[in-house]
Amino acid sequence: MMGRDLLGIEDLDRADLERILETAERMQEVGRRDVKKVPTLRGRTLVNLFFEPSTRTRTSFEIAGKRLSADVVNFSPSSSSLTKAESILDTAMTLDAMAPDAVVVRHKVAGVPKRIADALAAPVINAGDGAHEHPTQALLDCFTVKQEKGRFDGLTVTIIGDITHSRVARSNLYAFSKLGAEVRLAAPPTMLPAGVESLGAKAYTSLREALEGADVVMVLRIQQERMEGCFFPSIREYAATFGIDRKKLRYAKDDVIVMHPGPVNRGVEIAHDLADRRPSVILDQVRNGVAVRMAVLYQFAGRPATREG
Ligand code: NCD
Repeated sequence: MMGRDLLGIEDLDRADLERILETAERMQEVGRRDVKKVPTLRGRTLVNLFFEPSTRTRTSFEIAGKRLSADVVNFSPSSSSLTKAESILDTAMTLDAMAPDAVVVRHKVAGVPKRIADALAAPVINAGDGAHEHPTQALLDCFTVKQEKGRFDGLTVTIIGDITHSRVARSNLYAFSKLGAEVRLAAPPTMLPAGVESLGAKAYTSLREALEGADVVMVLRIQQERMEGCFFPSIREYAATFGIDRKKLRYAKDDVIVMHPGPVNRGVEIAHDLADRRPSVILDQVRNGVAVRMAVLYQFAGRPATREG
């Protein structure tokens, strides 16, 4: 039985992940209809509490909530009392007093969704906290791979880039390993955190070795906003050694797919022409994000908002 909040993939087991992915398949069918709406969450209120910028994740939660007939409220910190120094917890509790059925939280500090969850009656869904976790991104990435490959067992997933600062890498490492795939992490040594191998991944500083035999290549954005100091000599050098283009992809399997959570730094971590066309599936990931978030909302926002029992 899943907990009442979705704070990270670390807390889920394989059966939980499979259940969400199966539910997402049914939700995807709703998105193909003329009238893209079902009454599942009618009368329920969903609050999007985004303290950090977001394009894909926020709109995707909003569309997902609306397709399930929930009332969706978007909270933007700049227009709220946070600019008058109200604390995050006070803001969250004020919103909670309005009785939402679920609160989706993004914050630049790891652990904030958990602190908010501890204070609220409503279930909290983590939409990305610092460099900690981004569970719905990992779920939509797994969903995309399932659609492309039909399985996880025996697949090799190579995640490339700024592993240290990436919540996407961390959540995907948990998710793909739990589902039975082999996860490889490839980065310059300064971007590979110590101890990743204890989480079940193989770490590589040679891109070529990491790509050999890969079924899935996941490219990450350089998280300049989370960096203090210098992690590589120059963007140009990073692009030359770790940037992915069609030539470097030849080391991977012939039917490799290329993923990126967005936003993309074209010409840095991924070549222009590769970002837009197969084998890249970046827009499929975005499309699948709606169905996966519908499944997550169905699972977590459909229950009574109380911490008892
Ligand atoms: C990611 C994020 O915000 O963690 N983007 C996203 O949610 N699609 C990745 C990133 O910012 O690079």
